[in-house]
Amino acid sequence: MTTGMTTGMTTGMTARSTAHTVRLSPSGKDVACSPGDTVLGALERAGYALPNNCRAGACGECKTKVLDGEVDQGMVLDMALAPAEREQGYRLMCMAKPVSELVEIEFGTDDARPKLFPPRDRVLCVVVDSIERTPTIRELRLRPVGEPLRYWPGQYLMVGDPSAGAPPRPYSIANAPRPDGEIVLLVSRVPDGRTSGWVHEQLSTGDRVTVAGPYGTFIGDPGADTPVLCLAAGSGLAPILALTDAALRRGFRPPVTLCYSARGRDDLFDEGLMAWWTAKHRRFRFVPTFTGDEPDSALPDGSLRGRIPNVLPEIAADLSGHSVYIAGSPEFVEACTDAVIALGAPPERIHVEKYHPQAAAETPPATQLTPAL
Ligand SMILES: Cc1cc2nc3c(=O)[nH]c(=O)nc-3n(C[C@H](O)[C@H](O)[C@H](O)COP(=O)(O)OP(=O)(O)OC[C@H]3O[C@@H](n4cnc5c(N)ncnc54)[C@H](O)[C@@H]3O)c2cc1C
Ligand code: FES
Repeated sequence: MTTGMTTGMTTGMTARSTAHTVRLSPSGKDVACSPGDTVLGALERAGYALPNNCRAGACGECKTKVLDGEVDQGMVLDMALAPAEREQGYRLMCMAKPVSELVEIEFGTDDARPKLFPPRDRVLCVVVDSIERTPTIRELRLRPVGEPLRYWPGQYLMVGDPSAGAPPRPYSIANAPRPDGEIVLLVSRVPDGRTSGWVHEQLSTGDRVTVAGPYGTFIGDPGADTPVLCLAAGSGLAPILALTDAALRRGFRPPVTLCYSARGRDDLFDEGLMAWWTAKHRRFRFVPTFTGDEPDSALPDGSLRGRIPNVLPEIAADLSGHSVYIAGSPEFVEACTDAVIALGAPPERIHVEKYHPQAAAETPPATQLTPAL
């Protein structure tokens, strides 16, 4: 993995303190951008959907061409924005702050249709429950004190507490919206992870926590009426649960298959919910697959053995008519994407959420910096 980073600071150039305008081309629509705000933040506040996956200059998902005007790119990874792309005018909108009064960006008219709920900056919640679901995954149940958050299933929140040493990190919401606003998160323990460590070791039931969001565009396609295949590993199950929950509740008719990869029996959770969905919705199928070496007798009936890319042909040999949703670590998502493409899944119907780590882009060692272009 490349660890090179570049800054986008042009000598002597800093974001001005006056408001800026982001113009969307070719629609010509204008979006106001407050001083200090990123272009991504401004677009989201105005209800526009720009794909994003890490909000930290690490994944490249928000890469957009700047047609006119100047932005301060901030610190981003070379693997997310290559120097050649930078020369062609591309920038990462999650870290880009307008410098000139007007910044014009390439933003397709189809995408420019408002469709997301504007994210909220500081939503005070109470931890109503914190449950160890597996040896590595903790479920957090957060209930907003004020208005419930409006979000699309599949979106994520930023959760953390900088004063406790936990920088805000993205965590996918694991449930469809509920009338009481309760939000379920599934947080994997990352070795030496600051925010996941804080969730696992410090945050307790009854604590107050401030979250921001919703963010992200890993959302269902309301127009699709194809069979759906969902693939998840670890806490990647979170957005898949939210999407499935919402689809089944709204009476989605085509078959939905959820394949979950776990190392061993201890890593499998939500079996009760899976059994209920299977009983209630004839066209829902849950297929766990195990990568460890426990004996078959220890595993639930109907389980498969092996990594998802290897067992996929046993689940669906032809994916040309499917929509596919994949969430988890970048390596998991990439391996599954290759596998579903090999089975004929149309690229435009493959939706992915990669859990990119954010630490690197946030605290770059000086030796990893390359001069600004
Ligand atoms: C869109 C999106 C949604 C996400 N949703 C979820 C979710 O629902 N549940 C969830 O648990 N996580 C989710 N993540 C990942 C999460 O945001 C954090 O990256 C993760 O919790 C680690 O943060 P940390 O502060 O604990 O670790 P850090 O302090 O940032 O990292 C500590 C060390 O661990 C490394 N590291 C960081 N992450 C990983 C990893 N996954 N595996 C191995 N090493 C790692 C870092 O490079 C660093 O060296 C999501 C990420 C994205 C981008
Ligand atoms: S690089 Fe912008 S969202 Fe990841």
